Amino acid sequence: MKKNILLNILVCFIIFLGSCSKNVANKNGAVSSTSKIASQVGVNVLKQGGNAFDALVATGFALAVTSPANGNLGGGGFLVARTSSGEIISLDFREKAPRSSFEKMFLDENENYDKEIALYSHKSSGVPGTVDGLIKIFEDYGSGKFTLQQIIEPAIILAKNGFPLEEAAAYSFDNYKFEFLEDKGSTDIFINSNDEVLSLKKRFTNNDIEEKEYKERLDAIDIWKEGDIFVQKDLSKTLERIAINGRMGFYQGVTADLIVNEMQKNGGLISKDDLIKYESKYRVPIIGTYKNYVIASMGPPSSGGTLLVQMLNMLENFNIAEMKRNSSEFVHLLTEVQRLAYADRSIHLGDPDFWDNPIEILISKKYAKERLKLISLNEATPSDEIAAGHQFAESNETTHYSVMDKYGNTAGITTTINFSYGNKKIVDGAGFLLNNEMDDFSAKPNVPNAFGLVGDKANAIEPYKRPLSSMSPTLVINEKGETILTLGAAGGSRIITAVLQIILSVIDHDLTIQKAIDHPRTHSQWIPDLIFYEKKSLNSKTMKQLKDLKHKFYKETTDLARAHGIQRKDGTFITGADKRGEYNGKEAITY
Ligand code: GLY
Repeated sequence: MKKNILLNILVCFIIFLGSCSKNVANKNGAVSSTSKIASQVGVNVLKQGGNAFDALVATGFALAVTSPANGNLGGGGFLVARTSSGEIISLDFREKAPRSSFEKMFLDENENYDKEIALYSHKSSGVPGTVDGLIKIFEDYGSGKFTLQQIIEPAIILAKNGFPLEEAAAYSFDNYKFEFLEDKGSTDIFINSNDEVLSLKKRFTNNDIEEKEYKERLDAIDIWKEGDIFVQKDLSKTLERIAINGRMGFYQGVTADLIVNEMQKNGGLISKDDLIKYESKYRVPIIGTYKNYVIASMGPPSSGGTLLVQMLNMLENFNIAEMKRNSSEFVHLLTEVQRLAYADRSIHLGDPDFWDNPIEILISKKYAKERLKLISLNEATPSDEIAAGHQFAESNETTHYSVMDKYGNTAGITTTINFSYGNKKIVDGAGFLLNNEMDDFSAKPNVPNAFGLVGDKANAIEPYKRPLSSMSPTLVINEKGETILTLGAAGGSRIITAVLQIILSVIDHDLTIQKAIDHPRTHSQWIPDLIFYEKKSLNSKTMKQLKDLKHKFYKETTDLARAHGIQRKDGTFITGADKRGEYNGKEAITY
């Protein structure tokens, strides 16, 4: 217990090292992430003269320790950034399908989608891209003032010595006991040698108790509480190997051996060759305009940037600023525009290394006007009357963090292992969770994946292909050429519509980023033909008006995506951090 208190003090000291930063507007720089400890790691790098890219990479490695539900070494993601010289870059470090994957690998003998295998088996994991991506960002865009070891060192210390859990994390670990107990590595880390839980598991394995009783009794046991020190020794060693050997510390040697052992023992597909061959790629960013602003976002294999620009192009034809946010007029228009864009997503988008994405058409103002002819302002359009645009038939638990620095660099990453804690399997001996990103492929035409998204050939499984994503790290640049916003979100298919609504709130309704993030949101995605809505987003009058327009609703929800970002206004940095889900909105830091 004494040790816990001392460690608590040590970590609090790291957090406040050299400053008493507050979440208020400031002029030197800012880091926004889902972990206050990880954000402070990034701010410390900025204070030591690092640029936004150094700080972003340090924050990313720290998140792999502080936020096991979504920060990761075992997943992948996308960077969208703008350098001080004005260059806009996007890096794709999305996971890739292993060489031995194949189109029907998630279908059972009756050709039905097997959710268990697609989401919870070792076959659900794509080849991780995060380590390659973070190192590439550091090497290509870092300031050159730090070694990789210096950048990863805070993450190593946090993993080796541990850090105090926040209440939400303790609750979340306990919430997944049943799943963690299915896996040896996860049991070692998240069950914390709890005798009562381990003996229950033994009784269940020996068929001494029924599953129902087992789950109920597991639920009643709390292993973790706020302030407990969470130590990850194996993860600290993996991070040390990366710090010393760079990408080879992950894709070759001991870490690669541990990943491949884990796969071979459990029927997974990732091989040594898959790991050695993994490479992140710079992609052409999606660039669009909305009013006088330039929008820069992620292109395929993310659908995020394309859909975002497509929807903004359609909305530009209306006076959004005059519409009341979340009025029936606004929500109706948003829903119709979302319907059109997500219908296109299902057919036309996939990994650009495998599929010819008709981006130029999809993000053109002309196409937006043509698509708008399909909808009415007076009535909901049934989704089964809307298909993807066909005039070009020749073609087909995530987290966001960003940094802005005083030199003019802005960088944002959205990264994921798909579900919270990915497939809940830890690479035994290496201490990190595996993704279940293979479910982002379309396992079978028009059969929804875990996010209810449907797809077809463009996003079918093929060896070495990257699954289509919704992650949307995005920048907004004003008419003076200043980057005024960097943002992104977690939440699968809801990411794109959350980023859209935040941008509208900032540009059209002149809200600060925090208020824009706080504002209750709605979401729709063509299929299912429903409006998803957060608590307090729609009052009863608006709901009735929308029902009169023939809209149908999913049940009320508390949490349509979790967004984080930074705004630059009048020379100061303003952070935005979501209060939805497990977050308290205090994770982002300016200095
Ligand atoms: N795994 C969710 C996404 O990439 O959209």
